Amino acid sequence: MALYSEKVMDHFKNPRNVGIIEDANGVGEVGNAKCGDIMKIYLKVENDIIADVKFETFGCGSAIASSSMATELIKGKPLSQALELTNKAVAEALDGLPAYKMHCSVLAEEAIKKAVQDYYIRAGIPYDEEKFRNIDCCSECEH
Ligand code: FES
Repeated sequence: MALYSEKVMDHFKNPRNVGIIEDANGVGEVGNAKCGDIMKIYLKVENDIIADVKFETFGCGSAIASSSMATELIKGKPLSQALELTNKAVAEALDGLPAYKMHCSVLAEEAIKKAVQDYYIRAGIPYDEEKFRNIDCCSECEH
């Protein structure tokens, strides 16, 4: 069996939503201290809906595929739905990732959360800090 699913390979080779949004109103950047990979998510939020989302990922193929799939999953969706997106849902949508690559999908979940938090802060919207508590310390990696 191939190590990576066809969907992972497709999103790695043809990533969706790559780039930056100049007038983004929410930006989130996270890194994995162990592998050194970095992911940045740009959101354009309008009326609580993610009108546009783009990403820049300096990292492994699984991180690029995860960013691509995660942005597809939250585009056009309410912020509340984006906050519920888990790394497992991203990996499932990619038809799975090898166990030792699951932490790459965690970057996508964290970067989206951080971008939403940044939007709330910039817009002066009160938010539940509990929901963002684990952003820089996920359970999947050991840093
Ligand atoms: Fe670093 Fe995949 S190895 S995010």
